[in-house]
Amino acid sequence: MTVLTRRKLLQGATAAGAAGIGLSAMGRFAGRAVAKPEPLVLKTASIEAQLMDGAPTRNVLTYGEAGMPPVVRMRKGELFAARLVNGIDDPTTIHWHGIRVPNKMDGVPFLVQPYVYQRDHFDYAFTPPDAGTFWYHPHCNTLEQMGHGLTGVIVVENPNDPKFDAEVVINLRDWRLGDDGQFIEQFRPRDAAKTGTYGTVRTANWLDQPQFDAPAGGLVRLRAAITDVTRIYAFRVEGAEAAVIALDGNPVPQRFVPDALQLGPGQRLELAIRMPDEEGAVVSLRDVRGTKPKILATLRSVGGSLERDLRDLGPLEANPVAELDVAGARRIPLALSATAENVPSDGICGSLGYSFWAINKVPWPGDTRDPTAPLAELKLGQSYVIDMENLTPHSHPIHLHGMSFKVLSSSTRQVQTLVSDTYLIQPNEKVQLGFVADNPGDWLLHCHIIEHQKTGMTSYLRVV
Ligand code: C2O
Ligand code: CU
Repeated sequence: MTVLTRRKLLQGATAAGAAGIGLSAMGRFAGRAVAKPEPLVLKTASIEAQLMDGAPTRNVLTYGEAGMPPVVRMRKGELFAARLVNGIDDPTTIHWHGIRVPNKMDGVPFLVQPYVYQRDHFDYAFTPPDAGTFWYHPHCNTLEQMGHGLTGVIVVENPNDPKFDAEVVINLRDWRLGDDGQFIEQFRPRDAAKTGTYGTVRTANWLDQPQFDAPAGGLVRLRAAITDVTRIYAFRVEGAEAAVIALDGNPVPQRFVPDALQLGPGQRLELAIRMPDEEGAVVSLRDVRGTKPKILATLRSVGGSLERDLRDLGPLEANPVAELDVAGARRIPLALSATAENVPSDGICGSLGYSFWAINKVPWPGDTRDPTAPLAELKLGQSYVIDMENLTPHSHPIHLHGMSFKVLSSSTRQVQTLVSDTYLIQPNEKVQLGFVADNPGDWLLHCHIIEHQKTGMTSYLRVV
């Protein structure tokens, strides 16, 4: 497997991101699954990083000592353990986005676990039931902590997956930096009330357009996670045949060519790309949304052609998500709307000081010690359908913790019955999301445009 970037300086960091954790994970899985695995240490740190030309950026946050947070590898059905050690001067936690963990491991402060203060630690341990691409991030003072770098990709491997010739893992995100390369204000209230505040510097694996080598004529599994706090992407691949094989960690019922495929913060894309036969040919992954299209990353063919065929690729195994009983399902109406009130800015966990958004007319200003009542109390084992309606003129990637839902139907488009944890709802769209309430606990449901989340578009479901 060849995964190399052309930026020599950063090669070490990137190679570590792509493979380093894989090695420690191997060690963990080498023995028989009896004792608890050695925990993977994820220590938060404030570092300097080269994110654009010129001076390095100070006060970049990461897990580890240098470079972007490692790609964490787990295996479906095998126990995983990690110790969060807090090395920064701000309380934090880790949320394992999209992984159906027990409630106590979900990383939401006050709802399910205490803050992890500076020099303190917290041990996470769980067995991921699903294979696919996921990610991890704090769930406390998130605009600041995620905005400054604390977002990493998770790959949950399934040994039964079809064989690819290479794998590329891409962490997509922006940074709000000034001309001097230093952080500027993380958000502007007038933007928070609309699409959210965009970054000024766009990166893939903390680089501008990294290039990866891949075998000519080979099949590449490209995994991309949108870990940005604001940006919605529209994906296209140029220079090669490509098919979407999974979204948000779950195989798609029918593979398709990504043609300006829109995905929002929190979502993950998995592509099968058939590399060109000619050595040196370059394939690009692009974001074609808006007026400034951008090449995110490129792949370069190396060596003699392997002459693979996309059609030879067998299906990915479906994840063991319970089948809902649509006829017997209870309904949960959920309306996303705008609101406008000032809230005290001294809330804990990083209140932004505004409410612009609401779920069922209740604005929840971020994570609070005294959360409002749950949106609904669900019965363990019962099927539910969320009737979600977007009354705002903006798109919202709505994320549910702890359980995966199935997209049943939409008022504005033909949908595949995707299994997911994040749905990007468009303006004026109504969508039906069905699931079985099979994971007990309190589960957040919020917009993953972090400024929306932190200014009201948050709630939670209680499963008992
Ligand atoms: Cu990706 Cu509540 O989070
Ligand atoms: Cu939103």
